[in-house]
Amino acid sequence: MTHSRPRISKAVIPAAGLGTRFLPATKATPKEMLPVVDKPAIQYVVEEAVSAGLSDVLMITGRNKRPLEDHFDRNYELEEALTRKGDASRLARVRESSDLATMHYVRQGDPKGLGHAVLCAEPHVSDQPFAVLLGDDLIDPRDPLLSRMIEIQERHGGSVVALMKVEPEQIHLYGSAAIVPTGDDDVVQVTDLVEKPEASQAPSTYAIIGRYVLDPSVFEVLKKTGPGRGGEIQLTDALRELAQHTEIGGPVHGVVFTGRRYDTGDRGDYLRAIVRLACEREDLGPDFRTWLRSYVNEELPE
Ligand code: UTP
Repeated sequence: MTHSRPRISKAVIPAAGLGTRFLPATKATPKEMLPVVDKPAIQYVVEEAVSAGLSDVLMITGRNKRPLEDHFDRNYELEEALTRKGDASRLARVRESSDLATMHYVRQGDPKGLGHAVLCAEPHVSDQPFAVLLGDDLIDPRDPLLSRMIEIQERHGGSVVALMKVEPEQIHLYGSAAIVPTGDDDVVQVTDLVEKPEASQAPSTYAIIGRYVLDPSVFEVLKKTGPGRGGEIQLTDALRELAQHTEIGGPVHGVVFTGRRYDTGDRGDYLRAIVRLACEREDLGPDFRTWLRSYVNEELPE
């Protein structure tokens, strides 16, 4: 249906939220800059976009945007010091983030919600479908999700959201989707969406997680979307409009994700991500696993 369209090439990463769940760490630092082992969370997200073929990245930033911009820029002073020391491996790690992608930045101003953040991308994205990756949502690189979503968008047109089955008592933390099956086991059509419903009001336990491939018609819908839950302009409300009125911008499909995902904006999930990823690292893993085993067996309080 959409084969004549150019391939999706732009990624939008909203990173302008206040990060209140992580205060005081996020008082002067964006939560996306918190390290997960030894890389800021946001670097994993940019790497994920790049490995899905999206090398044009627009970051939506707010106050405290400096560390985000600096991280993806060169740091000549540091590079020179490492060169003088002959520390080639650290030098390569420092350069990794600045060589990743073509980075662009736009300020959101007031953090009026995720929908409002996405609307800030309109001048950059224009009239092409684009991907949105939430800066605090980490998808394990071994469980690729975004490339599958892009494939589904290219096949069906319209927009694609990422869905994950959660326990009923968790659904109030997410957008919940009403769905109908398609011929593909991991793909559903979304017919309705509700932002953060009580379990009894949720159309299903399929939760929207932080990856989207959006038709540009979402911008016009967002402009008409008033503040929703929490007084914020919600992306879910605009997607609901698209799902219910497929004549506006095509259907909304969901790719059901069953891999590993961490919400690094949540303190518990953040800690789990660090422990798991540290255990799996070739360099740090062996020592860290030995320590963790003895901690669990000998010291961990009940
Ligand atoms: P969250 O709701 O998780 O972010 O938004 P938050 O508001 O920073 O978090 P808490 O609840 O106060 O701890 C999901 C994503 O959308 C971005 C956030 O940066 C995060 O990546 N966002 C949210 C914006 O860019 N702008 C906004 O106005 C709101």
